[in-house]
Amino acid sequence: MTAGHSQQNAAVVLLFIHLCFSGGYQLTELQVGLCHLCNGTVQNGTAVSQFCSASAGLIDGRCCLLRKENIRDADYIIGLDLSNCSLSRVEDLQDAFSATTIDLSLNPIVNLDDSLFEGFIQLANLILPANLVCPGGNASWDKVKVKGETHFCEGQKDICNQTGYLSLNCPENSLCVPYGPGFFQCSCVDAFRGYKCLREGEFPIIQVFGPLAGSTVLVSILLWLTQRRKAISV
Ligand SMILES: *[C@@H]1O[C@H](CO)[C@@H](O)[C@H](O)[C@H]1NC(C)=O
Ligand SMILES: *[C@@H]1O[C@H](CO)[C@@H](O)[C@H](O)[C@H]1NC(C)=O
Ligand SMILES: *[C@@H]1O[C@H](CO)[C@@H](O)[C@H](O)[C@H]1NC(C)=O
Ligand SMILES: *[C@@H]1O[C@H](CO)[C@@H](O)[C@H](O)[C@H]1NC(C)=O
Ligand SMILES: *[C@@H]1O[C@H](CO)[C@@H](O)[C@H](O)[C@H]1NC(C)=O
Repeated sequence: MTAGHSQQNAAVVLLFIHLCFSGGYQLTELQVGLCHLCNGTVQNGTAVSQFCSASAGLIDGRCCLLRKENIRDADYIIGLDLSNCSLSRVEDLQDAFSATTIDLSLNPIVNLDDSLFEGFIQLANLILPANLVCPGGNASWDKVKVKGETHFCEGQKDICNQTGYLSLNCPENSLCVPYGPGFFQCSCVDAFRGYKCLREGEFPIIQVFGPLAGSTVLVSILLWLTQRRKAISV
């Protein structure tokens, strides 16, 4: 099956301005449903299994978890293997935001939203069915290759450091930081906070990290820019 993605050589860059507030997000035992979404466990020999043994992680269902022993309830998903699971849609991967390796191959997924991977700053190895494109476009990855039925997206590029690609301007007193494939955020430099980082002062942690403040995004601006690029074969 050859999908028409070769015509789609527009790199979509989602500009995300996240001003000063970042949601503290920690995985608790109740949230690991993603690990048991699919039957079985991470199979021996797969990318996630290899990465997991190399990282001394623990396999739990389809996840590889890293346990921070001195922090209560702090298991982080560092690898997620949802391959061969008859998935036709993937709508929420948020629990795996800290993953380095994610495998969604061998699934009849027709479409993946780029925003699924927003905030996935560690993601360095994403394996997809061949019909899907890498989130953020080829330009967001160091290496993109298609092998048989599988699409490999390897090494996330630092969007804040791409000369000639797009000049990213963050407001004064803030710095561009990568925020997942194709995403960046403008983070206030120390002591500045608020809209456009104009106010100076201590961050009001108690007020902001209230019960509903999982992720307090005040302003987000999405700009869709397209840029024609020649396919670079790797
Ligand atoms: C992205 O890279 C893959 C693999 O090299 C290629 O097949 C595809 O056409 C490229 N897509 C774009 C939009 O350049
Ligand atoms: C996984 O495979 C390797 C070699 O392919 C083997 O040495 C190892 O024992 C296997 N582990 C399990 C749990 O099956
Ligand atoms: C996919 O899963 C089925 C069972 O659900 C199994 O028979 C098949 O071998 C698996 N395919 C691969 C490539 O692992
Ligand atoms: C999971 O296993 C159950 C029982 O073994 C089976 O009925 C179901 O189809 C399996 N689901 C997938 C996605 O393979
Ligand atoms: C930006 O990219 C250049 C070359 O591509 C590299 O030498 C430099 O270390 C990078 N800077 C950061 C902050 O990643």
